[in-house]
Amino acid sequence: CIERHYKFNVVLKNTTRLCSTKPIVTVNGRFPGPTIYAREDDTVLVKVVNHVKYNVSIHWHGIRQLRTGWADGPAYITQCPIQPGQQFVYNFTITGQRGTLWWHAHILWLRATVHGALVILPKRGVPYPFPTPHKAKVVVLGEWWKSDVEAVINEALKSGGAPNVSDAHTINSQPGPLSSCPSQGGFTLPVDPGKTILLRIINAALNEELFFKIAGHKFTVVEVDAVYTKPFKTDTIVIAPGQTTNALLTADLRTGKYLVAASPFQDAPAIVVDNKTATATLHYSGTLSSTVITRIAAPPQNATPIASNFATSLRSLNSKKYPAKVPLKIDHSLLFTIGLGVNPCSTCVNKNRVVADINNVSFVMPTTALLQAHFFNISGVFTDDFPGKPPIKFNYTGTQPTNLQTTTGTRLYRLAYNSTVQLVLQDTGMIAAENHPVHLHGFNFFVVGRGLGNFNPQKDPKNFNLVDPVERNTIGVPTGGWTAFRFRADNPGVWFMHCHLEVHTTWGLKMAFVVDNGKGPNQSLLPPPSDLPKC
Ligand code: C2O
Repeated sequence: CIERHYKFNVVLKNTTRLCSTKPIVTVNGRFPGPTIYAREDDTVLVKVVNHVKYNVSIHWHGIRQLRTGWADGPAYITQCPIQPGQQFVYNFTITGQRGTLWWHAHILWLRATVHGALVILPKRGVPYPFPTPHKAKVVVLGEWWKSDVEAVINEALKSGGAPNVSDAHTINSQPGPLSSCPSQGGFTLPVDPGKTILLRIINAALNEELFFKIAGHKFTVVEVDAVYTKPFKTDTIVIAPGQTTNALLTADLRTGKYLVAASPFQDAPAIVVDNKTATATLHYSGTLSSTVITRIAAPPQNATPIASNFATSLRSLNSKKYPAKVPLKIDHSLLFTIGLGVNPCSTCVNKNRVVADINNVSFVMPTTALLQAHFFNISGVFTDDFPGKPPIKFNYTGTQPTNLQTTTGTRLYRLAYNSTVQLVLQDTGMIAAENHPVHLHGFNFFVVGRGLGNFNPQKDPKNFNLVDPVERNTIGVPTGGWTAFRFRADNPGVWFMHCHLEVHTTWGLKMAFVVDNGKGPNQSLLPPPSDLPKC
């Protein structure tokens, strides 16, 4: 077994974007942070040393963490944060996964600048199930605020309103040549004529789903969330915060420079987004001309058909070597409504402020990590009575429901080891219907169905794809619609599930599953590492 050792020093670094400079929290002074490389079956050890004034924790987004939930990283869910001056070694083995994932801070809004790629190569000697690319390049999409990101969210939390949108989208942390500060240039993607490059695309933006395009070129999507897909040709990649996409790009033009663009997708009219397009340049080696071909049909911000078509076109590869193991028999059939509600606290100062919820529960963060409470049987930290069905009946997408009552609590849903789950996520549109990219920690799931309007429990399951549904860890629930997925609870521990729009997580659109140990060998959560931070 091969060990890969990394050291992450969390430090402040003065950084200039949009022609202004501010200190940002980074790993090793890099933005985006360093890429972690490993192979399937390797053990990764990352020593994180906190040199800043904030509490820190790092999440390895999409890594299954089989029996090693202690290394998953969400603060107060699987661990207490690493306090200023402290350190912690994240130690995990990559089992049965290969492709592109990423890592990011999982506390406050630090992930705006504390993130990077996690590249898992196939086992030595095992080829890709697609033509071997000439080379590969990581492309991290993100957002940039001119002001302090932590101040932005704290301000919003205080007022109960929505935080300011970002001042720019970014490609490999650069707003690019068409931004309000063109002199700063942007990211250049070098390609060789006639050769194929593998793009490892990550959406690290806090709050916005993005379209990604390159003038004059098409992509072939071959993998999402570190799972191979049937090759799918498209000129637009649609990617939600948290998601990763591997796409082949054949540099089949001979020469030239071509515009690369990342622009927002938002089809909920009530939601304000940063509508600026981030740009970069694809550069054929040997091109001397400085002209950039900019002909790009950027989809309109509300291009629902493009997003829906992309979502429904993705399929698991489902080959002999990489079969789609979709659970066919279901033990827990769950329906979760997600959306925005109103703070039930009628006597406090912030009464009637907007909160977000799942099945009308707005999740309250504990002050002790849930995984510790679970492992050491500490009572009073959480309850395991999370409702499996919506507590009130209403028309999800029609006129505003009469009951906006949202409750609060640290409620978990308990699953027996190896039980199977079907979860339908229904966007309620209680205040404003909006696309929510929901991420489940600790598992991949199969996206068996998707639709607009209300989920129909009699009719819709008949059309579920149980053969080759796409397998992933983050899925967009369409605006005013629903998504259904299935997974097997084969990973004991406490697993966070939340909207990957940071603003919604902050408002409470989150919950967790607690998966009990199995009775067999290798079916229990391992004991915590000795350096696990204390609260
Ligand atoms: Cu990428 Cu819980 O997050």
